[in-house]
Amino acid sequence: MTETADRVTRAVPEFDPIPSWRPAERVAVEATDTVPTDATVIGVPTFSDGDVPERVPLDRATLEAAGFGASRGQTLVLPRADGPTIIETGVGERTTLDTAAVRDAAAAFARAAIRHERLVADLSGLQALDPAAAGQAVVEGVLLARYRYRVFRDLPSEAHLRGLTLVARPEHLDAVRAGAKRGEILARATALARDLGNTPATHLTATRMGEIAEEIGATTGLQVEVFDQAAVTEMGLGGLLGVNAGSTEEARCIKLTYTPDGASTGCVALVGKGIMYDAGGISLKPSDAMHALMKLDMSGAGAIFAAMTALRDLGCPATVVGYLMCTDNMPSGTATRLGDVLTIRDGRTVEVVNADAEGRLVMADGIALAVEDGVDAIVTVATLTGAAMRTFGTALAPVMGSDPGLVDQLEAAGAAVDEPLWELPLVRAYRRQIDSKIADIKNMGGENAGTITAALFLDEFTGGIPFGHLDICGPMTSDTDDGWRSTGATGFGTRLLAAFALDFRPSAG
Ligand code: BES
Ligand code: ZN
Ligand code: MN
Repeated sequence: MTETADRVTRAVPEFDPIPSWRPAERVAVEATDTVPTDATVIGVPTFSDGDVPERVPLDRATLEAAGFGASRGQTLVLPRADGPTIIETGVGERTTLDTAAVRDAAAAFARAAIRHERLVADLSGLQALDPAAAGQAVVEGVLLARYRYRVFRDLPSEAHLRGLTLVARPEHLDAVRAGAKRGEILARATALARDLGNTPATHLTATRMGEIAEEIGATTGLQVEVFDQAAVTEMGLGGLLGVNAGSTEEARCIKLTYTPDGASTGCVALVGKGIMYDAGGISLKPSDAMHALMKLDMSGAGAIFAAMTALRDLGCPATVVGYLMCTDNMPSGTATRLGDVLTIRDGRTVEVVNADAEGRLVMADGIALAVEDGVDAIVTVATLTGAAMRTFGTALAPVMGSDPGLVDQLEAAGAAVDEPLWELPLVRAYRRQIDSKIADIKNMGGENAGTITAALFLDEFTGGIPFGHLDICGPMTSDTDDGWRSTGATGFGTRLLAAFALDFRPSAG
C-alpha cells in the first residue's frame, strides 16, 4: 500500500468550503399580517387572468401595454416616490397554480430585487394554495435564488440577503410560519450542497470533506464515522482504493447515521458518489468544458450529506444511513491501469477497462457496506454518466431501480419538490455487456445505453435489497439563473432526498 509519506501537501490558502452554512449568512425569515413600515420592496404575486391585486396601482390593460402578461416568473418593477418598490411577479394562470410555480416566481422576485437586503413577499393573494406549502415554496425560491458563491470575489452590485418577511392573512400565519421554517431548513441544506459543489477540488479534498462532515454532523444530530485511508484499506474497499491509487490525496469513506427519536418507519441507505475531482484517471478526459466541471463529481455525496443535515429538524421518522465515497480520480504512475482487477468489499472482482468509469467502482463498495447493514432499501445518487445528460439535458434526472414501489417513492418526492425524475428501464438483457473475460464483471459496457449499463453494474452489488438509482449528471449544475436553480452547482437531489426520507415506506414484497 502507498505510504502516506508519498502524498504531497500543497501550500493552498485556506478558504471556507461551506460559507453558506455559517450563522452570519442566515437570513432572518418572519411572517406578519401587515407590511412592515420600513419595507423597501414588496413582491406581489400576479395571475395572468382575473383581477389585478389590490396593492398594484395599475389595471390589467396598463400592465399588458407595458408588456407584462404575468406569465410564470415574469417580473415588472414599479418604483414609487412615496413608498416601497412593488415588484409584480407573474405566477401564470389561476387554475394551474402549484408550489413549483410559486417557488419559481419567488425566485424571480428575489432576483429582480437583487439590490435589496430585505424583502417582503405578499402571500395573501395565493389563496388557492395550502398556506404552509406556499410559505415553504416562497422561502425556498427566495433563498435559493439569492444564493451566490462569492468566496473568491466580491459582487458589489448584488446585495447580501439579510431578511425576508412573508405577509399573510392572520388566520394563515401559523401555517405560513411552519412552512417557512421547513423552507429555511431545506434552503440551507441545498446551499450547503451548492457550496460543496462550487468549491474547487484543491480546496475540497476527501480529507476536508470528512472534517466538514464531523463538524456539521455534531450540530445536526448525525452520527458521523470517517474512515481514513488506513481504515478503508483495512475494510477492503477495493473500488475506492483502486480509484484513489493515482492520487496524492487520501480517500475517505464517510458514514452518516440519522436515527429518529421515536419508532422508526424503516431504514434506508443512501450511497453517494464523492469523486472530488474526476480527471478520468489513466483514461484522461480531454481538456474541454466538461473536464472543467469535474469538481462537481461529488454532487451525489454532497446532496446526500446536505439532505441528511435537515432530517432531525424536519422530524424525519425513518432511519437513514449515508455513505459518502470520497476520493479524486487522477492519472499518475501509481494510478490503476486498464486491465487491472479490483476486489470490491463483498469479494467480487472488477476488471477496469476504463479508468473514467470510476464512479461505479467507489459506489460498489458503498453499496456492499449498505447491504451488510441490512437496510430496507438502497438509493444511490451519482453524477455517473455523461449519457444521462445527453438523454435528458439538465432539467431532470433519470431514475432506475429494481423495485417499482421504491422508484415510485423517488419519483413522487422529486415531483413534490420540483426536482423531477424520469424512469429508465433496467434492461436485464444488457447485463452481458459488462461480462468480463477474467473477472466477475467489468466496469464499462458497450457504446450505447451507458446510463443503463452503469445502473446494472450497481444493481449487481445490492444483494436483492430494493434498489433505486439517480444519475444526476445533467441537473447537478446550471449555466444560468433559472427558477430555484442558481448559476453553478444546483444542489439538485437535496430537497428530493429529504422529502423521500420523510415519506419512506419499506416495500411490501
Ligand atoms: N463523472 C463522469 C460523468 C459526468 C460527465 C458527470 C459529464 C458530469 C458531466 C463519469 O465518471 C464518467 O466519466 N463517465 C463516463 C463513463 C464511460 C467511461 C463509461 C462517461 O460518461 O463518458
Ligand atoms: Zn466521474
Ligand atoms: Mn469518470
